[in-house]
Amino acid sequence: MSDDASPAIDDPVIVFDTTLRDGEQSPGCSMTQPEKLQIAEALVDLGVDVIEAGFPIASPGDFQAVREIANSFGDRTTIAGLARCRAEDVDRAAEALEGAAHKRLHVFLATSAIHREHKLKMGKEQIVERAVEMVRRAKGFVDDVEFSPEDAVRTELDFLTEVVTAAIDAGATTVNIPDTVGYATPHHYHRVITHLKENVPNIDRAVISVHCHDDLGMAVANSLAGVEAGARQIECTVNGIGERAGNAALEEVVMALRTRRDYYGTETHVNTRKLFPTSQLLQTITGVKVQRNKAIVGRNAFAHEAGIHQHGVLQSRETYEIMRSEDVGYVGTNLVLGKHSGRHAFRDRVGQLGYELDEETFQQVFEDFIDLADKKKEVYDSDIVALIENRTGTTKDYWTLEHCQAMAGPGMVPTATVQLVDENGVHHRDAATGGGPVEAVLHAMERVMGFGAKLEDLQIRSVSKGKDALGEVSVEVNVDGRTFTGKGVSVDIIEGSARAYLKALNKAIAARPVATA
Ligand code: KIV
Ligand code: ZN
Repeated sequence: MSDDASPAIDDPVIVFDTTLRDGEQSPGCSMTQPEKLQIAEALVDLGVDVIEAGFPIASPGDFQAVREIANSFGDRTTIAGLARCRAEDVDRAAEALEGAAHKRLHVFLATSAIHREHKLKMGKEQIVERAVEMVRRAKGFVDDVEFSPEDAVRTELDFLTEVVTAAIDAGATTVNIPDTVGYATPHHYHRVITHLKENVPNIDRAVISVHCHDDLGMAVANSLAGVEAGARQIECTVNGIGERAGNAALEEVVMALRTRRDYYGTETHVNTRKLFPTSQLLQTITGVKVQRNKAIVGRNAFAHEAGIHQHGVLQSRETYEIMRSEDVGYVGTNLVLGKHSGRHAFRDRVGQLGYELDEETFQQVFEDFIDLADKKKEVYDSDIVALIENRTGTTKDYWTLEHCQAMAGPGMVPTATVQLVDENGVHHRDAATGGGPVEAVLHAMERVMGFGAKLEDLQIRSVSKGKDALGEVSVEVNVDGRTFTGKGVSVDIIEGSARAYLKALNKAIAARPVATA
């Protein structure tokens, strides 16, 4: 088991986070620009070495997001922008990265026979030529150039060797070996990386990177096999989000390397205590939850239910625990505070949970805490995290909920009254009916706001334990074909639903300010 006094890391593994590019492009995970900036800031605090901020040619929004992240964080970590092997892609990515002190151009071109024949309709020679030309072009803008032969795992090994050699000769300083379709197994992937190490004559001039998808559930295992074979960069995403089944999960590769440093002989520079808060933040922003038993960041990851395990852990933690929950910043359901705890104790606790709040937000969260402590005897860490996240969204509140009340019961028509405040501080009240109390509240809100959304999903979970627990409601709505998510917390799940719905609608307004704001 590792502890805080770990010796300095020789030959560390570079963590290349692609949550904002490969992760963000997967369905349900799209983020607004302020949300991307919030994630980028969390990734900087987490200590990742490279943030792939997006694919600038894909859309003006992607370009703008990469540019803002480069301008805001490019002095603290390396910011990468993705480009196909096309001149206009490379130029656009270089333009987006201009403001970063540390920047990387990541160019990719498929190399497997399937992609050559069916997608690109290019021969091997043309592929090598194009790759060399675009690596050189990228090199004209930056020193730090990464080349990825897409679908490398299904590429003939001799051709892969040839392309990688040519890309390094042209100036690539990182060569990434993607398992684009999640086809590899650990042994197979180890062989591919070993082959490149042994047969690419100039391999000592570049870092070998691994990029694995999880279609067969082996992305993390394959990435680690790559490291064992000599790769020194892992491309991964928070919570493993990404195309189809996702990418290798950052928290898993980081903790595997840390926990088994004895075996791998290397580690990363990630501050592991930020893993859990970063995972939570991403879940809050995207509304995409990890499963309870997800390694490292799932709610059950550190829970011991079986009596024999509990007994063992009480005698000595190491009997059944290979990691300490505090090392990943896990927020359990520790009883922490009551309503007499006071502002000072509350501020300390917020800090220990890894949050830095400005004075205004702190005051709002503190007032929410006092309200909650009035309704519920025991307030847990997880309640505090929910209150903080409820107040720290990046979307402007065009409308806020002041009050809502619903009546329902056998033989009654469910009826609700709501009072909302618009962005100019004007109060609006209306009432409506519905098939149930939640529907009645949402209808009443729609009457006030003059527009509504199709509700695609609504989920309720309890944030901590007890019948008086804070309920967290997550909704996914569709407005004009676009998906928006929102989360609301309250001890009253009707009010929590109203808050979640309002958050999603505020995001929808932010996305089309001219039409509705
Ligand atoms: O999976 C993949 O091949 C990619 C490349 C663009 C690196 O995401
Ligand atoms: Zn990928």
